[in-house]
Amino acid sequence: MVLIIPVAVSLTLAAGAIAQGLNGSPFPDVTWPDAVSPNPAAVAGAQSNQKSPPKYPSPWADGSGGWSAAYDKAVALVKKLTLEEKVNLTTGTGWQMDRCVGNTGEIPRLGIRSLCFQDAPTAVRYTDFVSVFPQGVNVAASFDKKLAYLRGQTMGEEFQAKGASCALGPVAGPLGRSPEGGRNWEGFSPDPYLTGHMFAESIKGIQSTGMMASAKHFIANEQEHFRQLGEALDYGFNITQPGSSNFDDQTLHELYLWPFADGVRAGVANVMCSYNLVNNSQACQNSYLLNHVLKGELGFQGFVISDWQADNSGVSAILAGLDMSMPGDTLFNTGRSFFGPNLTIAVLNGTVPQWRLDDMAVRILAGWYYVDGDTKSIPVNFESFTKDTYGPLHYHVGTQWGTGLINEHVDSRGEHGALIRQWGAESTVLLKNDGILPLTGKERLTAVFGEDAAPNPNGPNGCSNKGCDIGTLAEAWGSGQGDFPYLVSPEAALQHEIVSHYGAFESITNNSALTQIQTLSRRTNAVSGVCIAFANADSGEGFINIEGNYGDRKNLTFWQAAEPMLQNVTTNCNRTVLVIHSVGPIEIQKYKDNVNVSAIVWAGLPGEQSGNSLADVLYGRVNPGAKLPFTLGASREEYGADVLYTPNQPVPQFNFQEGVFVDYRAFDHRNITPVYEFGFGLSYTEFEYADLQIEKCGAAPYEPASSVSDAAPIYGTIDNRTTTHLFPSNFTRVPLYIYPWLNSTNLSSAYGGSGYGDSAFIPDGALDGSPIATHPAGGAPGGNPQLWDVLYRVTATVSNVGSLAGAEVPQLYVSHGGPFDPKRVLRGFEKLLIEPGQSTSVTFELSRRDLSNWDTVSQNWVITDYTKTVFVGSSSRALPLTAVLQ
Ligand SMILES: *[C@@H]1O[C@H](CO)[C@@H](O)[C@H](O)[C@H]1NC(C)=O
Ligand SMILES: *[C@@H]1O[C@H](CO)[C@@H](O)[C@H](O)[C@H]1NC(C)=O
Ligand SMILES: *[C@@H]1O[C@H](CO)[C@@H](O)[C@H](O)[C@H]1NC(C)=O
Ligand SMILES: *[C@@H]1O[C@H](CO)[C@@H](O)[C@H](O)[C@H]1NC(C)=O
Ligand SMILES: *[C@@H]1O[C@H](CO)[C@@H](O)[C@H](O)[C@H]1NC(C)=O
Ligand SMILES: *[C@@H]1O[C@H](CO)[C@@H](O)[C@H](O)[C@H]1NC(C)=O
Ligand SMILES: *[C@@H]1O[C@H](CO)[C@@H](O)[C@H](O)[C@H]1NC(C)=O
Ligand SMILES: *[C@@H]1O[C@H](CO)[C@@H](O)[C@H](O)[C@H]1NC(C)=O
Ligand SMILES: *[C@@H]1O[C@H](CO)[C@@H](O)[C@H](O)[C@H]1NC(C)=O
Repeated sequence: MVLIIPVAVSLTLAAGAIAQGLNGSPFPDVTWPDAVSPNPAAVAGAQSNQKSPPKYPSPWADGSGGWSAAYDKAVALVKKLTLEEKVNLTTGTGWQMDRCVGNTGEIPRLGIRSLCFQDAPTAVRYTDFVSVFPQGVNVAASFDKKLAYLRGQTMGEEFQAKGASCALGPVAGPLGRSPEGGRNWEGFSPDPYLTGHMFAESIKGIQSTGMMASAKHFIANEQEHFRQLGEALDYGFNITQPGSSNFDDQTLHELYLWPFADGVRAGVANVMCSYNLVNNSQACQNSYLLNHVLKGELGFQGFVISDWQADNSGVSAILAGLDMSMPGDTLFNTGRSFFGPNLTIAVLNGTVPQWRLDDMAVRILAGWYYVDGDTKSIPVNFESFTKDTYGPLHYHVGTQWGTGLINEHVDSRGEHGALIRQWGAESTVLLKNDGILPLTGKERLTAVFGEDAAPNPNGPNGCSNKGCDIGTLAEAWGSGQGDFPYLVSPEAALQHEIVSHYGAFESITNNSALTQIQTLSRRTNAVSGVCIAFANADSGEGFINIEGNYGDRKNLTFWQAAEPMLQNVTTNCNRTVLVIHSVGPIEIQKYKDNVNVSAIVWAGLPGEQSGNSLADVLYGRVNPGAKLPFTLGASREEYGADVLYTPNQPVPQFNFQEGVFVDYRAFDHRNITPVYEFGFGLSYTEFEYADLQIEKCGAAPYEPASSVSDAAPIYGTIDNRTTTHLFPSNFTRVPLYIYPWLNSTNLSSAYGGSGYGDSAFIPDGALDGSPIATHPAGGAPGGNPQLWDVLYRVTATVSNVGSLAGAEVPQLYVSHGGPFDPKRVLRGFEKLLIEPGQSTSVTFELSRRDLSNWDTVSQNWVITDYTKTVFVGSSSRALPLTAVLQ
């Protein structure tokens, strides 16, 4: 058995060497946080230093499942390409060498453009005149599939208008294993079913505009700590590899892979592999995950792109399934690449077979054709790394390598602000209301408290990459954000609301002005006015820290010293509305219990129209209909899965021993009553549930997939004379730019590294292009198509028994019945708008997949013999309707 390099290296060190923290002490023996202790198989399958099995060769695309037109176009083009042209498609040109965050080489001979890959999942990053949308966590809170699609489409239009080829999102990894995880908000929800739907709809929406979407980060990228060695040095740890997420096959399938399967089924053009290791093999060269699971079982037809600098090898990664290296250089601005010339060499020396390179090129072009990128895209009209109108063509190397018009300042927004306002309101969750809401606007005095209500005095984009928590929080930090075109603060919107009819409004946005806060809150109370208090909690990507929060949060309490302010206001004012802007769970038991807190509103990260969206809810123009996409617990310990902040080894080991018991599944399993449960959210009206009906549908018995592929196709002949692969003699090379050509006919000196490559690690079978058998759970993009056969149709009646029109989200949960199954898992939700006094019927279709468990022995989905029970209601703990499936 052959292991790829990083596995071997990490195992040696993990087993033997004593690595040091920077203070010189050995890594402490950290006890893992109090995990839910559920399933012995999950515990046994999540052990330090366990290995990921090798799986070779890398399956080649075949155009199945709706991809045939795109695949045929891609093949027709690849047939015409030279070795260097194929290599150019697979390799980025280097960090900050062209205008987008990632740019492939172009094919000038055939007029094929460089593909532009641009962050982010919530906005077009690094440019002006773009919208900042409600973030993923808010999309999840809307529980509205149509909203997810439309937001994807609207964002896609902005990427399109800027000349991008691919929007680097949406996110289903992190899924949100632990509430402290820094980038959870970029994704949707720790529930894989909810995330799967939002992920798939976002992909379809983005791709409807001619933009490729990128399903990221694959996979188990669940914490920021220890994702990169340089970052870890910054916080004091000299680790030897990024941390390894260790978990068993069932947890992979039932939790972390689930939404990615939905994304692949939705036709995502590319999947981005992540920085972390999985079972001690780097995610970007983990053959089990990329070859066996993603391209085999899930039948993925597009391409695998590395996260930026997450590719750590050429041949090894390529044979393990990586198709594109980004941003192309080994590390930012080294001028060297694991792909580029090394890939040219590897094909010439036979370590990467031609069929594998051809498959890489076909997959990349098929992804682009699949979304009609060839007809719908326009030239890039912005420059990521400066907002200057004129400037260097290759930013990193400066003006001596050419200058020109680099920012055309194209306004891509149209009237998207109106939709963003609406979506912000539709994703605001009402958690508590003693009747104070909706406000009338005619209150004698409206008093606003808290820094989180106010603008950042340094401007809405005053901190690079939003790397500060100053003023109101409407977008969190890192590569997942973009520049605000404006930010409507809550203070401004609420003041406008009151002043428009000459009411009384005062705000104190300095949290330490406690004397003034006491005076104003008392005075407001005395005249029966309303106190609206704001607090937030931020998190983000690991390359930035705020107050020592290295991406991941250190705690689940409020920031900005909001607690003393809240304490003061809620003591003095018995009509207090608490508004929360947070990236995820926050500890608020005491505010739930406090009678002076008349209402609690979770507004999440609503984007540029923050204040207006909130005012629409507070003043009743929008009746809240969102639901919590995570559990609010009393303390972090209750979640049973936490971030590892101190490495337990030189290669930190994240052992996911809680298995599938994350978020509400952990609370249910351990009988912990949450403060507010997953799926909970109030309305200004009331709903009742009745009349559960179950219809059994006739579906054919499940057949494991059993077909066999063709042999790996080869397109064109590669000219293997080394002289034909040198740089063209008259070619002007930009320094540090990654080109596909060689500078020597001697392949080992053209390689340019010390030592010659990683050929010793060509695993068994990796070069073999013979026909391969389809995975039994595979057969089409997303998995075996029969997994989506509808087995039961469940209907219920939802009635609006209040006096206002409102939206409700009936939710269906299933108990799979086994001893190690969660008590219930979400398996259906619909958002319904119901007029007062009216009733609506809701239908949930339960698929085979919805009722199955992953069987590690048959490597397939099976419906166990345990009794399956369905529950329907308004949250994960308010489920008045229930029945057993026959
Ligand atoms: C590869 O792309 C670069 C630009 O990114 C271009 O200068 C070069 O000509 C391309 N090479 C080939 C072989 O097309
Ligand atoms: C980290 O450890 C390696 C050896 O494992 C050593 O070469 C390097 O100097 C260390 N770096 C720092 C910053 O201590
Ligand atoms: C080829 O890859 C190796 C690392 O495996 C690197 O050291 C070398 O510089 C690369 N060669 C070129 C020409 O980029
Ligand atoms: C509110 O702040 C004032 C001024 O610092 C202080 O005297 C008072 O005790 C505080 N009240 C509460 C309930 O925190
Ligand atoms: C709220 O405070 C006001 C002013 O002190 C008082 O009149 C009113 O009874 C209080 N309401 C409640 C419910 O305590
Ligand atoms: C939690 O972290 C935030 C942000 O660093 C900090 O402002 C706050 O004081 C911390 N809470 C506690 C209880 O330490
Ligand atoms: C180069 O290609 C020719 C023709 O395809 C083939 O006969 C020869 O064996 C190849 N040489 C090498 C070193 O691969
Ligand atoms: C380089 O040489 C080729 C072939 O001689 C020619 O077609 C091309 O125009 C030249 N390019 C430049 C930039 O001079
Ligand atoms: C072939 O080329 C690749 C890429 O430069 C290199 O890593 C590998 O060691 C080479 N293998 C042989 C057998 O020359």
